[in-house]
Amino acid sequence: MRRTLIAGNWKMNGDLVTNAALLQAVRSGAQGLAAELAVCVPAPYLAQAKTALEGSSVAWGAQDISVHEAGAYTGEVAGHMLKDFGCHYVIVGHSERRSMHAESSALVAKKTKQALAHGLTPIVCVGETLAEREAGSTASVVEAQLQPVFAELPDQLKHIVIAYEPVWAIGTGKTATPDMAQEVHAVIRKQLAAADSAAAGVVRILYGGSMKPDNAADLLTMPDIDGGLIGGAALKAADFLAIAHANQK
Ligand code: 13P
Repeated sequence: MRRTLIAGNWKMNGDLVTNAALLQAVRSGAQGLAAELAVCVPAPYLAQAKTALEGSSVAWGAQDISVHEAGAYTGEVAGHMLKDFGCHYVIVGHSERRSMHAESSALVAKKTKQALAHGLTPIVCVGETLAEREAGSTASVVEAQLQPVFAELPDQLKHIVIAYEPVWAIGTGKTATPDMAQEVHAVIRKQLAAADSAAAGVVRILYGGSMKPDNAADLLTMPDIDGGLIGGAALKAADFLAIAHANQK
């Protein structure tokens, strides 16, 4: 019912030469996989991703979207531009943007709405810091992050993807254990069910944070973990594909 999604978040990495090899390897390695594969590349490389992946089973997307349609917003990239380059997905509210660019949950909700308005599937990221986890507030933190999205889009929630990315696990090599991640995923699904019970059954909730080939199978087997949002390991085709192969659903 929920097809596993393994999405790479390249963050600000890559260049034309290394991307070409990575995209080609992902494209050929994706054949016959049960999981869906996607790569979210830096905006300047969307054209390259489009050319390299068109006609394959691999989707591509961006890492951010402007809340504005067009106009005097220097440096921003509009939804219709992402659509022009064939994006299927766009990441919104990644913790790096929340912390380094002061993105509020209200802004993230507006970006989510903008993505859907342009026919893009938003991957809405939520997650707690280590201090918040230690204070026992993980559930309330992710709920506060999701609530504006639920309020902004009551009828469209079934079209989103959610990524649970505990901030303390991102790029640190510290992964949430499968049980820890499952517990939060189940909480998120319950919160989603309270907003839209039909959406809760179909929305994919990805885990992100140091997911690697050696821990992917245990995470992906959990009932409420519907895939992964992969940072570092998405930059090596062999690792990215191994994660996808670890999926047994
Ligand atoms: P890492 O897989 O490098 O920990 O990054 C996770 C992430 O932030 C994906 O969006």
